[in-house]
Amino acid sequence: MELVHTVSWMKQIGGKALREDRVLGLVPTMGALHEGHLSLVREAKRCCSPVVVSIFVNPKQFGPSEDFSKYPRALGADRVALEQLGVDYLFAPPAEEIYPQGFRTSVFVDGLSDVLEGRSRPGHFRGVATVVLKLFEIVQPRRAFFGRKDAQQVRIIKQMVADLDLGTDIVVRPIVREPDGLALSSRNAYLKPEGRRAATVLHRALAAASREIASGELKAGHLLSMIQRTIATEPLVALDYAEIVDVDTLEPVMALRKNCYVLLAARVGGTRLIDNALVEQTGDAFRVTI
Ligand code: PAJ
Repeated sequence: MELVHTVSWMKQIGGKALREDRVLGLVPTMGALHEGHLSLVREAKRCCSPVVVSIFVNPKQFGPSEDFSKYPRALGADRVALEQLGVDYLFAPPAEEIYPQGFRTSVFVDGLSDVLEGRSRPGHFRGVATVVLKLFEIVQPRRAFFGRKDAQQVRIIKQMVADLDLGTDIVVRPIVREPDGLALSSRNAYLKPEGRRAATVLHRALAAASREIASGELKAGHLLSMIQRTIATEPLVALDYAEIVDVDTLEPVMALRKNCYVLLAARVGGTRLIDNALVEQTGDAFRVTI
């Protein structure tokens, strides 16, 4: 695996792959890699060559009071894990390569960026879209791999790719969870043992909603109040929002229809966690994937 630190060298590698008509796959990450990230890398390896993984803790997607400075960084261990999976290039630029002095441009995907996570984290998705567009311009991937764990992020990136004719295929992969249901996240490292135990309530609430849906409950109000009651059983967990939204518009629905997300965000101590379930309609039936 070759370690690449500069934009100019990464552009040359990406440009050469493009000219040779190779299917370059990019997995963008902020590092501190876990099985969720690695599942994306494995899928990229399965269908792309070469595979590029980027590790860049993007300052522009953290709010002023958020955890940018203490966000976990583990480049040594990440490198070993990626090497073992046969990744071709690790792109790990310093901040000044991505945002040189005088950098001014940003990308804002209207209508999808100020709701849900965007309401709780103003500026977050402007930072995400900006860095992902930069990574796509630098690496020039044919395919890029993202986790459904960050469902709103995926929706925004797909919109940006369509609106700006970027031509990159966006591949979305399932949520990887711990055996007790907690979705893997680099931020789980912040949890203390009691918080770690309590955090499983997000998954328990989604599983309870899934059972209700299986038994025919379609009203969003009913499903959401059941989720709220479940989360309230854990005093260490403070719900930020629970919403059922249309997968395309991210607007709340009154009752399940077509395809929806059940989206949750909560604080456990100082740690903000998100999780979701995908509800898909086939005929009269709804299938829930957690
Ligand atoms: P990061 O949080 O490091 O996540 C990188 C990718 O891993 C994202 O696509 C995310 O959805 C996916 N991922 C995280 N946890 C997962 C899990 N438990 N199961 C499956 N996939 C999971 O998301 C970002 O970084 C950044 O916003 C980024 C896109 C890199 C832009 O800076």
